[in-house]
Amino acid sequence: MKIIKVENYETLSKKAAEIIAAQVAEKPASILGLATGSTPVGAYQELIRMYKRGEVDFAGVTAFNLDEYHPVKKSGDQSYDYFMKEKFFNHVNVAKTFIPNGEAADHAAECENYEKLVYESGGIDLQLLGIGNNGHIGFNEPADHFPAATHYVALDESTIKANARFFENESDVPKNAITMGIRTIFKAKKIMLLASGAGKAECIKEMVGGKITPKNPSSILQLHPDVTIIVDKDAGRLL
Ligand code: PGA
Repeated sequence: MKIIKVENYETLSKKAAEIIAAQVAEKPASILGLATGSTPVGAYQELIRMYKRGEVDFAGVTAFNLDEYHPVKKSGDQSYDYFMKEKFFNHVNVAKTFIPNGEAADHAAECENYEKLVYESGGIDLQLLGIGNNGHIGFNEPADHFPAATHYVALDESTIKANARFFENESDVPKNAITMGIRTIFKAKKIMLLASGAGKAECIKEMVGGKITPKNPSSILQLHPDVTIIVDKDAGRLL
């Protein structure tokens, strides 16, 4: 794992945006794997600025998002579909975007379909990840095994609590989601994980140096051949 420690969230966001822009410059038809959550928002803002200055062009890019709540109305402001449009897609020229369908009546069929779409795309060139306080990547929650493919998942109590900040009431947080699995994520040639703030210090330490166990899903990243972790001072303080 390559670890890049930076001073603060602003520098982290700039560094992440630079790496994504460099990927797109090197391969204009890149397949990007994207993430939601508060951590990547600064990188998206920076990429929007770069796009407006003509420093990056997403015209050939296809994007696959990691996960989506289920059930959720796509047009509702709690969906990840809405989040990605608001925070990124509406402001840049990404050619094709895919997010698991939170409105799918048959979630099992949607999981199968999404997995197939990722594979048929030829595989993700650069996958962006955040990390949950419980060590989740995407919505691969702590479990007794590593789920391989895109799957339907019951969200962990700790994830529901952590995500309640985006909802009026904790009881409004959807209880389920569709997420890429570990094999889906590992199909990415390169992975870049971002973490900011003291609250992430413990899970970053465990991810980098702890036991590889499905109880801490992020620990499996120790086995991927090309992972870059960008942490700010607070998130990296135990490394
Ligand atoms: P956060 O979420 O960026 O909002 O901390 C990360 C995650 O849950 O993967």
